[in-house]
Amino acid sequence: MAEHNLSHIDLNEYPHINKGLDGIVAFSTTKSNINGQTGELIYSGYHIDTLAENATFEEVCFLLWYDRLPNQTELDELHKKLQANRELPEPVLTYIKTTNPKAEPMAVVRSAVSMLADFVDDDASDEYNAIIMTAQIPTIIAAFDRARNGKEVVAPLKDGSTAFNFLYMLNDEKPGQAAERVMDLCLVLHAEHGMNASTFTCRSICATESDIFSAVSGAIGALKGPLHGGANTAVMNTLLILKEQGENADPVAFTKAKLDRKEKIMGFGHRVYKTFDPRAYHLRKMSKELSEETGHVYLYEWSEAMVKTMKEEKNIDPNVDFFSATVYYSIGIQPDLYTCIFAMSRISGWTAHFFEQKANNRLIRPRALYIGEKNLPWTPVEDR
Ligand code: ACO
Repeated sequence: MAEHNLSHIDLNEYPHINKGLDGIVAFSTTKSNINGQTGELIYSGYHIDTLAENATFEEVCFLLWYDRLPNQTELDELHKKLQANRELPEPVLTYIKTTNPKAEPMAVVRSAVSMLADFVDDDASDEYNAIIMTAQIPTIIAAFDRARNGKEVVAPLKDGSTAFNFLYMLNDEKPGQAAERVMDLCLVLHAEHGMNASTFTCRSICATESDIFSAVSGAIGALKGPLHGGANTAVMNTLLILKEQGENADPVAFTKAKLDRKEKIMGFGHRVYKTFDPRAYHLRKMSKELSEETGHVYLYEWSEAMVKTMKEEKNIDPNVDFFSATVYYSIGIQPDLYTCIFAMSRISGWTAHFFEQKANNRLIRPRALYIGEKNLPWTPVEDR
């Protein structure tokens, strides 16, 4: 990269460059509040612990979309709408069955969600389209996983919760109550989280007056990155590297060696939380219980050893992605699907933010400080 002489730059025009928009407040929202100092998270008025204990994913969807909890009739109606819209349009299913089985699952989810736009009426409401995506993302993920493994794709059920139906489509077997509850709780915990990179992307696309499918497709692309939602798959890959080391596996030495090489440890750190991520408490508890039940207790112990090492070495705590990895592993989900499950939940938050942005819109347009040359003379191609 060329060295730049910055002497011509008028820094008064841009008194402060905020790399990563750290701490910038550019929106108001009723969807969630994060207190990064105390480690508290609220979705539309309700503490995450209250929701984790009491809410289903469908109740959280309604809460985020309408800023209040549904009554029984409204909840039943939402369930019915989701259940009635789970089947994919045939061309989308054909794409999923015929695409490269080695494709990244998040890339397939992104492309398939983008295709869904072609099969709704132009005048369909944003609310209807949000239901379509919330109902069909689980079908996309399960269909791709089965197709890539040479298995028959399982048609969605016309009843049951999102969590139940997803596990059923993935495994061709109805899950037990405990597995459904684990899946549902994971969906509740991942549903919404302020102005993270994917939600910002969603709102930026919405602000151009583009459509909700474009906004969500962009958000999925942002979530895919390992510094955002992609971290949960990366966490599991780290633990699997340790597993391959067999008796020599040493999570403390492994973590320290990575830190010495200035590498990031996936599943740790957060732009907003300067303490333990409140979602991680719930996932940690689940990870412990499930790893004991399923004989993966060593994975949980290695995770805890990494948490302790990161605290001692860097004073950095785990984020939502750290313990979710072992939770999904314990319920038998392939590591490269973890970020897709994140998207399957976060669709609720993205679409809620889309509605909010649209209701009070202004084009999102920050500026960049130009640090290149100015007024260079033109050089003909033969002289360059
Ligand atoms: N491992 C090691 N060091 C870390 C980590 C980590 N996971 N996270 C932060 N740090 C260190 C950085 O090296 C840096 O140290 P330095 O000041 O000595 O250079 C300092 O902490 C600040 O880190 P930044 O990357 O500047 O913090 P930022 O707020 O920009 O990044 C992020 C936050 C991207 C989440 C970061 O912590 C990270 O990369 N974590 C790993 C990836 C991850 O788990 N992402 C998921 C986040 S949650 C979510 O999106 C769902």
